[in-house]
Amino acid sequence: MAHVSADTVTLELLTEAREVVKSSPLGVIQTPMIPWAQTTLPLTINCDIHIKLENMQRTGSFKIRGVAYQFAQREKGGHFVTMSAGNYGKSFAYATKHYGTKGKVVMPETAPVSRSILIQSFGVDVERVPTPCLMNVVNRCVQEENMTFLHSYDDRDLIAGHASLGLEVLDVLPDPDVVVVCCGGGGLLAGVAAAIKLSGCEKTRIYGVEPQGACTMFQSFIEKHPVGMDAKSVASGLAPPFAGKLPFELCQRFVEGIVLVSDEDIKSAVSTLYRAGLVVEPSGSAAFAAVVHNKIPDLEGKKVVCILSGGNIGKDELTNFPD
Ligand SMILES: Cc1ncc(COP(=O)(O)O)c(C=O)c1O
Repeated sequence: MAHVSADTVTLELLTEAREVVKSSPLGVIQTPMIPWAQTTLPLTINCDIHIKLENMQRTGSFKIRGVAYQFAQREKGGHFVTMSAGNYGKSFAYATKHYGTKGKVVMPETAPVSRSILIQSFGVDVERVPTPCLMNVVNRCVQEENMTFLHSYDDRDLIAGHASLGLEVLDVLPDPDVVVVCCGGGGLLAGVAAAIKLSGCEKTRIYGVEPQGACTMFQSFIEKHPVGMDAKSVASGLAPPFAGKLPFELCQRFVEGIVLVSDEDIKSAVSTLYRAGLVVEPSGSAAFAAVVHNKIPDLEGKKVVCILSGGNIGKDELTNFPD
């Protein structure tokens, strides 16, 4: 795949992508961002927090934003292949059905089976493989079956679409002090961070949050190049085998730091949110977990945005979490 430079991610691109996402036939929602109510979401730190409810987004996660712009830029009628643990796959399948194109999702076999079944219900093929084999299977589909690969996080169009989330945050809170974002391959974090910084919010501190067992971006920051690992976490969407190249470059430019949370922190965050009436999946709860477990420095008195990035969790999965 040809390398795309971070220099090509400009405010013009992100503004144009936002308009395309807004008017997309896929029906992307401008999700609500609401003040955190201390009565329902107790917090020891005294700060002004807003939560962005991307768990209410069409298809249940932010991924539809990037997919809307990614598909708008591609020729219709192709045969697309991707690798995904679930949420990208769901949005990809939804778009594929809408545009009447053929699609295949290569999934890590650790992803919940219910997600494969859901994706298949949109008429898309699913192949479940061990995480280290994901890319080999995708390459086989491209080389032997002539499919076009759509990356689930390392793709400029996708990142530009995700940036619409960051621009929406600024509509409500024009100068946030801190923005906290869940990070897997880094597409969401890169898009949100680019949108906020390129809009002129130089002082905003943007943090990515990863699970301890799937800390590819954290490790990439240390080694100063994108790295891979045998990633494992209850948050399967945050555990891709490697950090994205373009996301890494953009994160290096625009992100203050990556903080880590344990799977136990994530599980208790899912439960706390559920008790407050918010259904948020583990991958969508990591940013919240970092805030409530005091992993983000210097929040006292600050305007903070916490993105709840997805709500795709079934009743069966929820029973695995503490009361
Ligand atoms: C709910 C949720 N949040 C965050 C992410 C991380 O997104 P990215 O891979 O772009 O970092 C994912 C990835 O699938 C996800 O499903």
